[in-house]
Amino acid sequence: MSIQFSRTLVTTALPYANGPVHLGHLAGVYLPADIYVRYKRLRGEDIIHIGGSDEHGVPITITADREGITPQEVVDRYHAQNLEAFERCGISFDYYGRTSSKLHHETASEFFREIEGKDIFVKKMEQHFFDPKANRFLSDRYVTGTCPVCGYGEANGDQCEQCGTHLSPRELIEPRSKLSNEAPQLRETLHWYFPLGRFQPFLEEYVKGHVGDWRANVVNYTKTWLKQGLNDRAITRDLSWGVPVPIDTEEARGKVLYVWFDAVLGYISFTRAWAEKNGRPERWREFWQHEDSRIVHFIGKDNVVFHTLMFPAILMAWNENRSEGRYVLADNVPASEFMNFEGRKFSKSRNYAVYLGEFLDRFPADTLRYTVAMNYPENKDSDFSWTDFQNRTNGELADTLGNFIKRSIDFTNSKFDGRVPWQCTPEDWRLPGLDWDDCLDRLEKAYEQFHFREAASLTMDVARAANRFLTEKEPWKIMKTDRDAAARTMAISLNLCHTLAIAFYPVIPHTANRIYRMLGFGESLDDALKNGRLDWRDAFQPMLFEGHVLGGVSEILFSKIQDSDIAPELEKIERLLADIRRKEAGEEARGLADIAPEIAFEDFLKVDLRVVTVLEAEKVRKADKLLRLQVRIGGETRQVLAGLALSYRPEELVDRQVVMVANLAERKIRGEVSRGMILAVEGSDGRLHVVEVDGEGINGKRVE
Ligand code: 2FM
Ligand code: ZN
Repeated sequence: MSIQFSRTLVTTALPYANGPVHLGHLAGVYLPADIYVRYKRLRGEDIIHIGGSDEHGVPITITADREGITPQEVVDRYHAQNLEAFERCGISFDYYGRTSSKLHHETASEFFREIEGKDIFVKKMEQHFFDPKANRFLSDRYVTGTCPVCGYGEANGDQCEQCGTHLSPRELIEPRSKLSNEAPQLRETLHWYFPLGRFQPFLEEYVKGHVGDWRANVVNYTKTWLKQGLNDRAITRDLSWGVPVPIDTEEARGKVLYVWFDAVLGYISFTRAWAEKNGRPERWREFWQHEDSRIVHFIGKDNVVFHTLMFPAILMAWNENRSEGRYVLADNVPASEFMNFEGRKFSKSRNYAVYLGEFLDRFPADTLRYTVAMNYPENKDSDFSWTDFQNRTNGELADTLGNFIKRSIDFTNSKFDGRVPWQCTPEDWRLPGLDWDDCLDRLEKAYEQFHFREAASLTMDVARAANRFLTEKEPWKIMKTDRDAAARTMAISLNLCHTLAIAFYPVIPHTANRIYRMLGFGESLDDALKNGRLDWRDAFQPMLFEGHVLGGVSEILFSKIQDSDIAPELEKIERLLADIRRKEAGEEARGLADIAPEIAFEDFLKVDLRVVTVLEAEKVRKADKLLRLQVRIGGETRQVLAGLALSYRPEELVDRQVVMVANLAERKIRGEVSRGMILAVEGSDGRLHVVEVDGEGINGKRVE
């Protein structure tokens, strides 16, 4: 039975207020959400878009330490910057909150207390590094030392930058505190764990109920986790920046909630703040606690399990034994793949990115929105390139859409006194190459099913058909001989301008508003919408009657992007890439300097490298980095443990042919037998990439 929803709550992943948002963030999360919300608003649906800054977490304190300012100053800076960039881009949040706000701290604390009161958390006494000089426990990133794998002396407690190995601080050789540079001590400390496993059956049921309507990547990723069995997750940290653990005991002192535990609750606290701001403080419950409310989380693929397992489990814990004030769970979690930039992953640390604010200093928001929508990374990673941006702006926005609108308005102004010169009949509205019913149906499906690239592209097809219609009818030629025919053509064209204003509103709202004004409406399209004077379906019928007065002189909607406009950007990329290459070359040189002592050829021959096929892969319980692989080597199947879990989802490895050291003595890792070693190399994206071999019939072959 399908539920009739009365209202929708859209949330967008809260970006860390630790840096500016870039085009990758825009493409995966904020633009698709905004397109969806604007479409729903056009349909007159009750929908709100809630977002905000994620202002906790260790990286923020590290930035603060590095710059010698407080974490609050860091988040104040980036919260303001990101909010401004989103506004300029037309991302229309109903509320953009902050997790450092009082209401958020109260909400997160309320959840903790509720779950603690039900005795659901598991408490574990653990040994963690402590800096006696700074009088602080040290989270992973605050510990440095020598990498046990490559010997690099400045490895971080969570990962070695040089060889990419993911580490835990206790694996470092001669660990030091980054605060005092002294050796830390191990001290006992109590932590709260959320027992995800306790909710496994309910989560399985929940996910099962959405197979078919959730994207395949979301279902698969979530199912992989479920298949491995859910473990306890630590939800407290020894830190001073965050939501303090809200109980008054000695054990809780100096501890805060883990950033992910509090961040997801931001969606709730910000909805509460929105309701308060609008003078109806209880209205947030209609979105969170009424069964007829639909919740949709827009996120990137790296956030999936937090939204499909962790957050629902927290809400289930709240709901346990409650008949009132129960939370509804998300109906959909449209997670995007990533958008790359000029063929490479965005990298904040290498400054290989285009930041949203900087982009908007140079180019109009709608040119960006359109290009990004046309490259929406829905099912696979996509790419943003400057030449694609230039081509789409010039060829599609300027030459097709802008040209059509301007020609329609200019000709009407000059030959028909700026008035719609004809009353369009349903007969007139039948245009070659445009089946309105089919168009409406396909567009609605595209929007409802989150296919935003298709929606933008279908709308541009309408603009193409309109442009073609006007060109082929040649009103400027027939004006003298058949004025009625020219009038009819212009009335149809002006109505098509109206169609395009509305139909393009979700994707390019600034342009839609400008077209609307040029068509002579006394209010903006946004206002017409707010005041209930506009409806999505108005786009698909003639709405401008004979005699309607246009808005005067037309504007150029899109200026063409010249080669000289993007040349500095292309040069910048060249420089950045050259830097990256130099850095990589430096790393390689360093790698060579660290090269292991020479061995004899005979020694090398002792190493038997073989092509093997991965038959099965699964995560190893309680070992974040390890995958247990079953590999086929000739007629034999072997179990091998590989530290690839942070670089690959298990299912990604299945069926691949990879290179393995086949004659390594059997080892036990975490109590499990491993009979071989899979070769991998760290890529520029910081992930390990297995050494893969393509080709048929090569399983078991020796690599020489
Ligand atoms: O990955 C991130 O950028 C996180 N700050 C997203 C948080 S989403 C939600 F939980 F708030
Ligand atoms: Zn290393």
